[in-house]
Amino acid sequence: MEQARKILVTAALPYANGLAHMGHLVEYIQTDIWVRFQRLIGNDCLFVCASDAHGTPIMIRARNDGIDPEKLIRHYHDRYKEHFAAFHIRFDNFHTTHSQENRDLVEKIYATLKTGGHLDRRTIRQAFDETEAMFLPDRFVRGTCPRCGAEDQYGDSCESCGATYSPAELIEPTSVLSGTRPVERESDHLFFRLGHFEQALRQWVTSGALQESVRKKLDEWFDAGLQDWDISRDAPYFGFEIPDMPGKYFYVWLDAPVGYMASLMELCLRRKDLDFDDYWSPDSNAEVYHFIGKDIVYFHSLFWPAVLQAAGFRVPTGVFAHGFLTVNGEKMSKSRGTFITAATYLDHLNPECLRYYYAAKLGSGVEDMDLNLEDFVQKVNSDLVGKLVNIASRCAGFIIRLSDGRLADQLPDPDLHASLCNAAEAVAAAYESRRYSKAMREIMRMADLANQFIDRHKPWVMAKQDGQQEAVQAVCTQGINAFRSLIIMLKPVLPGMAASAERFLGEGDLQWNDIGRPLLGKCIRKFEPLMKRIDPKAVAAMVEASRENLGPSPADDSQAGQPAETAADEITIDDFSRIDLRVARIISAEPVEGADKLLRLELDLGDSRRQVLAGIRSAYDPESLTDRLVIVVANLKARKMRFGTSEGMVLAAGPGGDEIFLLSPDDGATPGMKVT
Ligand code: 2FM
Ligand code: ZN
Repeated sequence: MEQARKILVTAALPYANGLAHMGHLVEYIQTDIWVRFQRLIGNDCLFVCASDAHGTPIMIRARNDGIDPEKLIRHYHDRYKEHFAAFHIRFDNFHTTHSQENRDLVEKIYATLKTGGHLDRRTIRQAFDETEAMFLPDRFVRGTCPRCGAEDQYGDSCESCGATYSPAELIEPTSVLSGTRPVERESDHLFFRLGHFEQALRQWVTSGALQESVRKKLDEWFDAGLQDWDISRDAPYFGFEIPDMPGKYFYVWLDAPVGYMASLMELCLRRKDLDFDDYWSPDSNAEVYHFIGKDIVYFHSLFWPAVLQAAGFRVPTGVFAHGFLTVNGEKMSKSRGTFITAATYLDHLNPECLRYYYAAKLGSGVEDMDLNLEDFVQKVNSDLVGKLVNIASRCAGFIIRLSDGRLADQLPDPDLHASLCNAAEAVAAAYESRRYSKAMREIMRMADLANQFIDRHKPWVMAKQDGQQEAVQAVCTQGINAFRSLIIMLKPVLPGMAASAERFLGEGDLQWNDIGRPLLGKCIRKFEPLMKRIDPKAVAAMVEASRENLGPSPADDSQAGQPAETAADEITIDDFSRIDLRVARIISAEPVEGADKLLRLELDLGDSRRQVLAGIRSAYDPESLTDRLVIVVANLKARKMRFGTSEGMVLAAGPGGDEIFLLSPDDGATPGMKVT
């Protein structure tokens, strides 16, 4: 028997200031399927992850929310854990980068980098916000692009023309924190000498650790010359202070990948059968794989292996990047209701449907992937319900009724079973190389063959004929065994459905090798429907609920690894005059049951009354709103929501959460007045 491989797998660490959404799930589902497959074929595979807890955005968000960063990161850490678990994403450990294990490892790595002569201290000039008394990360400065003149661009790159530059080059730069113009200040920083590792990295790249397109990208980076990497940040910063540089902190991107190791280390403290060095020592014979999004390839294929090498650890066996997710062919969008969080999905749909759909679309490359909601319904219903579950539901009843639940002792069509065994080999190779779409196609091709076999033999006709009981039992035994083989092949993708099928088959935990050992002469249990068809109405309700987050709430918008929704295009005065803004008086306000963000407002517009469902509950006590004047978009098309119809929109400013500020006219305005 082949020796089991020892494997450590990681998925990228999600920032602890947002909620898991459909984009995140591509990666965690992709990784979880691979890990489950490895275990199913008998390998010893660990899956660790953590929340990524440090950095300026988290510090600022906590400050804006008026809470300690520790409280903020704990909240989002717990939400990730909960939502990932609901999608059957089963980590061996989900730790945090804000942990003692991570601090210890980062300090140890820092000390080794320093004594090895791989760090350089230099004075740099950087944008500084004098009002906030802090240095600004590039993304916290906005201004006009020096190349194309596009307004309101980030300090590091222009979304309009793609130019990259430094914040100092922006025309009319402003700090996003205070709105003031930043000044330039000097500060001492620590640089990691990436160039020291060029040879080692070039060699690592030839080991087959990277996908072909990523390898090509690395060649470009090598040709452009490897730049030293600034691994320090000035206070105030939420992270680990550098031991011998008071007031300086390790940059979040230094301690984030170390979080992979820290998560394993913390697991090793609890599981005495595991040894950290087995995975990370330079002579380790374990395999280490990182699954990531294509936007963070530079960190994982240059900085990270170089840091590992410098610190005396082994380098990863493979880094697998995937593409971005679009929904219905476009970037996820709150206004279209396609920015769907894991939590909202779970309110409406079965998580295994998404696992299957993603598997059916995922290849091994970095191409973007589309979640087309119509195709999603159609594919899940046709493949899982129409083909797969149908095999078992067509056969189980006859075995229970006519043969007391007992399967026949032989398969009437051993060739069909042999075809399934051959297909299983191709499916295994496809899983191993992350070509899940190929695996799903092969599995569905076999499901078609099994259904055709049943169609040919028509057990429902035979069952009505005398003396055909054994023939019915034989045909249905073949059908149940085909279903069993397919369920084993799908176990990495559909663990919940596989567990129910295992109860029905009565054999316990099935392994990949069981495909080759048909289930004969044994009793099966009563068949319970394994999956219901998706009702397109549930998908529509999910989209509607995702649109529910009226009003701005950028806090939960962080689309890790996703292109951001760009600012609205310019409009003309004519466009603007089409919007009928009116003064309205709030007659009453009350919470909407089942929607924790919404208030139901009854509005007086002078000549009419309206009901508006507004996403302002986190900021306003309903009682405080009675009699208040607000501004309403009066000609907004009424929208049917799960909780009723909303006939307009009230205007508010602010980042969301408890910072929402309703717009009101000065005293003297009366309901119905037009706002111009
Ligand atoms: O891009 C991101 O969302 C990062 N939080 C990923 C970190 S992965 C690893 F390096 F920690
Ligand atoms: Zn530009």
